[in-house]
Amino acid sequence: MAASLQGSCISNPSLKCSLQDSDFFRPYSLFPQSKNLHFNWKKSPRENSIKMNAVNGASNAPDVITVDTTLSPRVNSVKPSKTVAITDQATALVQAGVPVIRLAAGEPDFDTPSVIAEAGINAIREGHTRYTPNSGTFELRKAICHKLEEENGISYTPDQILVSNGAKQSVLQGLIAVCSPGDEVIIPGPFWVSYPEMARMADANPVIIETSLDDNFLLDPKVLESNLNEKSRVLILCSPSNPTGSVYPRKLLEEIAQIVAKHPRLLVLSDEIYEHIIYAPATHTSFASLPGMWERTLTVNGFSKAFAMTGWRLGYLAGPTHFVQACGKIQSQATSGASSISQKAGVAALGLGYAGGEAVAVMVKAFRERRDYLVRSFKEMEGVKISEPQGAFYLFLDFSSYYGSEVEGFGTIKDSDSLCRYLLDKGQVAVVPGGAFGDDSCIRISYAASMPTLQAAIERIKKALAAIKLGIPV
Ligand SMILES: Cc1ncc(COP(=O)(O)O)c(C=O)c1O
Repeated sequence: MAASLQGSCISNPSLKCSLQDSDFFRPYSLFPQSKNLHFNWKKSPRENSIKMNAVNGASNAPDVITVDTTLSPRVNSVKPSKTVAITDQATALVQAGVPVIRLAAGEPDFDTPSVIAEAGINAIREGHTRYTPNSGTFELRKAICHKLEEENGISYTPDQILVSNGAKQSVLQGLIAVCSPGDEVIIPGPFWVSYPEMARMADANPVIIETSLDDNFLLDPKVLESNLNEKSRVLILCSPSNPTGSVYPRKLLEEIAQIVAKHPRLLVLSDEIYEHIIYAPATHTSFASLPGMWERTLTVNGFSKAFAMTGWRLGYLAGPTHFVQACGKIQSQATSGASSISQKAGVAALGLGYAGGEAVAVMVKAFRERRDYLVRSFKEMEGVKISEPQGAFYLFLDFSSYYGSEVEGFGTIKDSDSLCRYLLDKGQVAVVPGGAFGDDSCIRISYAASMPTLQAAIERIKKALAAIKLGIPV
């Protein structure tokens, strides 16, 4: 595998790199605009070293520098995030002039509500530009406690809250804090791409429990029970779910809680980051609010999705003091406290009212309209199976009936990777292969895009699919 300087070629034209590094993309013969993106690193005959031509070196620098490229076994066990790779590459194509519609990213297309943005600007003006306490400002942690009590029915004190640079960091620190080598992290699949890799980074083994589209991708408590043993350390629940949009009904969570309660070593990491992006009649239940679950639940939430604050990098973890302190210890040696400016903005976000008030309701209404439009459109398409999502902003669609089809000028559509490559080549629509989320029969479409963009995407997908002769009858 060649080494990668991906992305840097865009900002620094003196560096040349290639889009073909990813295991997803092939060379872009169809996109002549991208042909000037080339690669100039060479693997040397020695397996773990590369030779580079010295570029800007001083006159006495050697012509060729050899670098040992050995990486740690931990890093080698981790796969890069495919969603990030595809998003970055779709962006690179757009910058190279290819009119790709990007439906791969996991971020709202809305601007951060102005009240929140203003609070950030004021924070700078008022000099809130210094380090904050490692666990976050008292003001923000108090506001988070208030939110969790009012909206989620869970009581925490400010010392039981750890504010981080995004929920992603909260999940990773939670797993690192509680897992011992060889422990198992139970992950219902399809899963958010980062969970298994984070489990590996925590020296634990991810154990995937498959769910099916016919069951709305919800975990069967009996199947969960049959997968638990003394090594089971953490069960990760994500509701509303990325990538499926399914929402766990309270009754199902209660059944899961009864099983969890039988396993003293088992903790639950409840990722509730899409909590507010939910479509009635579905409702959100916080796992920690269920009887007996507070003591064994790490609740993760953040500001990225509901408040359209992905770039502010602000999330948090709430749980029993012992676990939160352990996570804080890790954070204190890694990043320290989150941005002081973002934390001021976070306080303003939580001040918008119950569930984010009108500002969030407007965005959720738009997401719902888009979901309804896409569900209708895909239901009309031949060979596509769908489970109507109840939350988040993704559709996870089963396209497996197209697998095995030969397409002239492209080749065989073997799996979700090749289907997505085909949709990009033929339709110039970027979506994510379900294989990245543990279910190769599906692809994930993000509807964090305007209605006209989604309408254009549907037309392109329809046209691209029309060219495929179905491999098996539908
Ligand atoms: C399920 C899930 N959890 C956590 C995160 C991380 O969010 P943040 O931007 O707060 O790090 C994401 C982002 O895509 C997500 O989809």
